[in-house]
Amino acid sequence: MKRDLISIKDLKIEEIEHIFSLTDTLKAGVEDFSQSLSGKTLGLLLLKPSLRTRVSFEVGMNQLGGHTLYLPPEDIKFGAREGIKDFAGVLSRYLDALVMRTFSHKQLEELAEFAAIPIINGLTDLLHPCQVLADLYSIKEKKGSLAGINFSFIGDGNNVAHSLLFGCAKTGVNLNIATPVKYKPKSEIVTEALEIAKGSGAKIVLSDNPSAAVGGADVVYTDVWTSMGQESECKKRKKDFQGFQVNQKLISLAKSDCSLMHCLPAHRNEEITDEVIDGPHSIVLDQAENRMHVQKAILLLLLGGD
Ligand code: CP
Ligand code: NVA
Repeated sequence: MKRDLISIKDLKIEEIEHIFSLTDTLKAGVEDFSQSLSGKTLGLLLLKPSLRTRVSFEVGMNQLGGHTLYLPPEDIKFGAREGIKDFAGVLSRYLDALVMRTFSHKQLEELAEFAAIPIINGLTDLLHPCQVLADLYSIKEKKGSLAGINFSFIGDGNNVAHSLLFGCAKTGVNLNIATPVKYKPKSEIVTEALEIAKGSGAKIVLSDNPSAAVGGADVVYTDVWTSMGQESECKKRKKDFQGFQVNQKLISLAKSDCSLMHCLPAHRNEEITDEVIDGPHSIVLDQAENRMHVQKAILLLLLGGD
């Protein structure tokens, strides 16, 4: 049966550990994976802008001996030329898997239901699972293990924060989220994450107090205040997020060896200062690089090359 990657919630902890150990193997460069996905084609349909997601999947697939096919949204006219059922049925006859970035998470779930091939979530308004798998792998790589890590997220309780809730709950990472009251993560996601955390022992705390959330943190993470598709709210959000900037003063409250993370793209000197993103704690480029390595492991698992 085909497997999709729609949400980290759907992965067993053993599967996450398997993705991470396969990523280690891929990064070690000792085994030859250069033909593992030979003859396979991965489609990419990205209805929002993308740098990392597109390039990391294209280069990663190439390195595994497969091909990618970029589907220009203006030609495909997703949802306008034909319904999701026909779209999914047809692409399932040509492609071996599809990465989709879209607005509505429900639409992605519907696509996965109709498609006979693996569907990979390349970001929706609700979740960004590939990002957070790469983030957790990056922390494990830096800190040696995820056990007992205190992770602090400051900013918008949006797609990245939602996937972090699932990812930390699954892997036992203690997550302290601080958002303005109006920008809290969705309550149904928090409820599900708290339920998952019972199994791993992860402590999840939500507040509107960045200083308290960062206190003693091993990792401090932020995301943009205005996500793709919310551009018309930019001015209002800049006001609403005052006091939530990740700057030197804030990260001085974290552990002295804390790692600073951002999924990128960053709106420099809004949610994060130049000094911090370019400073000695920042691992943002390792994080971006690991998108490719972790996604190669995901592709091997979903496309049967492992
Ligand atoms: N972090 C991330 O998904 O980047 P892109 O939007 O550039 O793909
Ligand atoms: N929250 C951001 C993440 C970008 C990778 C957005 O949705 O635009």
